[in-house]
Amino acid sequence: MNDLAGKHIVLGLSGGIACYKAAELCRALLKEGATVQVVMTEAAAQFITPVTMQALSQRSVYGSQWDARAPNNMAHINLSREADAILIAPASADFMAKLVQGRADDLLSLMCLARPMDRVPLLIAPAMNREMWDHPATQRNRAQLQADGAHLLGVGVGEQACGETGDGRMLEPQELLQDLIAFFSPKRLAGQHVLVSAGPTFEAMDPVRGITNLSSGKMGFAIARAAQEAGATVTLVAGPVALATPRGVQRVNVVSALDMMAACVAQADQATVFIATAAVADWRPDNAADQKIKKDGTGMPQLGFVENPDILATLAQSPRAASGELFCVGFAAESHDLLAHATAKRARKKVPLLVGNIGPATFGQDDNALLLVDANGAIEIPRNSKLALARLLVADIARRLAQQSV
Ligand code: C5P
Repeated sequence: MNDLAGKHIVLGLSGGIACYKAAELCRALLKEGATVQVVMTEAAAQFITPVTMQALSQRSVYGSQWDARAPNNMAHINLSREADAILIAPASADFMAKLVQGRADDLLSLMCLARPMDRVPLLIAPAMNREMWDHPATQRNRAQLQADGAHLLGVGVGEQACGETGDGRMLEPQELLQDLIAFFSPKRLAGQHVLVSAGPTFEAMDPVRGITNLSSGKMGFAIARAAQEAGATVTLVAGPVALATPRGVQRVNVVSALDMMAACVAQADQATVFIATAAVADWRPDNAADQKIKKDGTGMPQLGFVENPDILATLAQSPRAASGELFCVGFAAESHDLLAHATAKRARKKVPLLVGNIGPATFGQDDNALLLVDANGAIEIPRNSKLALARLLVADIARRLAQQSV
């Protein structure tokens, strides 16, 4: 993907062991199409060499406010004016304190102070020992930086280079990348609470076996990510899949259709949008064995099947949906005659928008094609990555919500 195409990022490194992650971050930014100008403090250069950062960023690195390379000898002005954002990663406790005080005795702090605040955002990824992070001085500085308009990314929790465990780790490069992409995304769903169901459900026959549906959960997870990028509060009710939770998304893990129903109903009171992408099993065994059924059939119960509740239809018929407070979107995975089936399903489920896709062509894949069916007809969104499609769908839903509220 080229999610940062055209963006020029000034990547500032202050001194900390997390500088090793800045190398990976720099590569990741370039891979997403950004150009990266590295600026390092003297302390940062103790942890990673400017040579490494130059090679990775493909630009010479700046470190000193006395650098004579710039014809006007004002690197702090030139570098900050051309940036779409300044990202300090890692931001040490000392560097945060300097920013709070507006000190400017090295190029990086000078450049941050000199940045045009109205058009060059400052993003800060702190990295320090947990005691340093928890210290009231650092917490005061964090709050002051936010009050001064900086955006905090992180911190992460876990094992630290010093051997202690706690808050204060710098986020991983991929996490910072996702946060930066989200930062630049238009906030089309600001103020909305999006509930997404995703993945298959698993209906137990005994403690080790059951029936399930083919579904990787990728489309639902992509939608959750796209909605979060668009500024929504997102709850993702996920069946058994091993996908990473998108950044900033609250995940509720469930196994069976009944669990998924209970979790969705519990969340639906706060939600303003429900997007049902889950492949819910239509049936569950009515009489699951509580011990493993042996190969010879010992302990085999008489298995019948009972129909599972339809989560989407239930929520689409709730009073909040009827009053327009909950906008429901359904999905239909079909093998053929997509338009006819999707149109019929939209009417049956009583949802304003139903998204059709050809199941066998997309199960487990990273790309898909969608057919958006509403009261006026159908629009095709051609084959693309699931994340790109999810972003287009989110933009489409945001447009519908905006129209609804006028
Ligand atoms: O009827 P069908 O399973 O094809 O409908 C698909 C749509 O309904 C999807 O949006 C799916 O998440 C939702 N659904 C549901 N609960 C069920 C069955 C389907 O929410 N029990």
